[in-house]
Amino acid sequence: MAKTKSVFVCQNCGTESPKWVGKCFSCGEWNTFVEEMTTTKTKSTGRSGFGVAEHSKPVPLSDVTVADLPRLTTGNHELDRVLGGGLVPGAIVLLGGEPGIGKSTLVLQMALHLPKAKILYVSGEESPQQIKLRAERIKDGAVENCFIVSEVSLERVLTHIENQQPDVLIIDSVQTLETERVESAPGSVAQIRECTAGILRVAKEKNLPALLIGHINKDGHLAGPKVLEHMVDVVLQFEGDRNHMYRILRAIKNRFGSTHEIGIFEMQNNGLREVSNPSELLLARHGELLSGVGIAAALEGMRPFLIEVQALASSAAYGTPQRSCTGFDMRRLNMLLAVLEKRAGFKLAAKDVFLNIAGGLKVNDPAIDLAVVTSVLSSNMDMAVSPEICLAGEVGLSGEIRPVTRIDQRVGEAAKLGFKTIIIPTYPKGVDFDKFDIKVHQVTKIEEAFRFLFA
Ligand code: TYD
Ligand code: MG
Repeated sequence: MAKTKSVFVCQNCGTESPKWVGKCFSCGEWNTFVEEMTTTKTKSTGRSGFGVAEHSKPVPLSDVTVADLPRLTTGNHELDRVLGGGLVPGAIVLLGGEPGIGKSTLVLQMALHLPKAKILYVSGEESPQQIKLRAERIKDGAVENCFIVSEVSLERVLTHIENQQPDVLIIDSVQTLETERVESAPGSVAQIRECTAGILRVAKEKNLPALLIGHINKDGHLAGPKVLEHMVDVVLQFEGDRNHMYRILRAIKNRFGSTHEIGIFEMQNNGLREVSNPSELLLARHGELLSGVGIAAALEGMRPFLIEVQALASSAAYGTPQRSCTGFDMRRLNMLLAVLEKRAGFKLAAKDVFLNIAGGLKVNDPAIDLAVVTSVLSSNMDMAVSPEICLAGEVGLSGEIRPVTRIDQRVGEAAKLGFKTIIIPTYPKGVDFDKFDIKVHQVTKIEEAFRFLFA
């Protein structure tokens, strides 16, 4: 017999409580508890748990055979790279990202380019006509094998899966799905959890790869409980600045591959274009010498690319100088400015400092520190750095330049792009940079780098 009970669920972390509380005792958020009705089926077996074990039988790990995971390559190299080689049968991939970033475009483009696979595209957000219009924008690709349905009911989606027997399932988005088994509103924690569990069951049962699109909340995390991220096999995040055309696809969790890979795309009029050589796009080669520019040999995931850091330092018009950053951590900039002030004797306390990473990218790699301080000083002194020089190095609190990871890759990329000199931290004697066709200048303190650059 079905029994309905009311529980209060934290919309942030999914914690349940029998009564309303103001502050979640699990995640500490305020005012996140919402009443939800859940219907639980009472079990007919007297002692729950017994009798279930017949279906599953423990086997020694040595007896478990894995047929080499056959992956379904999506034909999109950047997406395949992030997935770790393609879609794995039965795996659930959750794709998150801000509204309008291009999640629906990415999955539709993938669907249209999947060779010979039958796709079921369930959209709770758009009508088939809207999807068709988007498909027409993307143009090339096969539309015969892509079946579209506008549906929000989980039960009916499961019926469609049964009838169509697709090779790949796409749900856009998991927040719009609802199931009759739970009485709360679509998008609530209970609904998301229940619907994902439903999809998970058929995916594992039928060995059907499924792609779920998920919304993110204002903090940039996937909306819904953390359990959602635990349930799925792969969590991807699609990010970028909506006003710029570059998009980065990152794996946050991947049970079948590395989370260090990133995919880079460019949003164009006819869909997303794969960017296989990011440096070419991120480096604007100005003909003239400009002050306030430093080129960093950065690394995102496993991929090296060169990126332009731009700074502007000018006398503050008001008492408190302004500091502003795009694509870089503001606290880190403040720290770097303090290091310049204290350790290298530059007077920046009365200057407004603006910093911008070109291309609208967010870079977390500490190796761009050296390019950041260089661009700030270059702007402050109004002296340009030669465009044939690039930099990689982390700046420490005492003004020392600290070694960074994968230096060979960075130096190699700079050499490939035709830079003449790269300034890097000092490495032990054993590290060989002679194989690269570029002059490597190793420094231990920021003063040494500045003497080399501005002397
Ligand atoms: P969309 O995939 O709908 O975003 P999401 O599903 O993440 O909310 O993409 C929306 C944006 O992409 C929209 O503002 C228009 C733009 N766009 C292009 O620039 N070129 C294209 O070919 C397509 C299909 C969309
Ligand atoms: Mg969408």
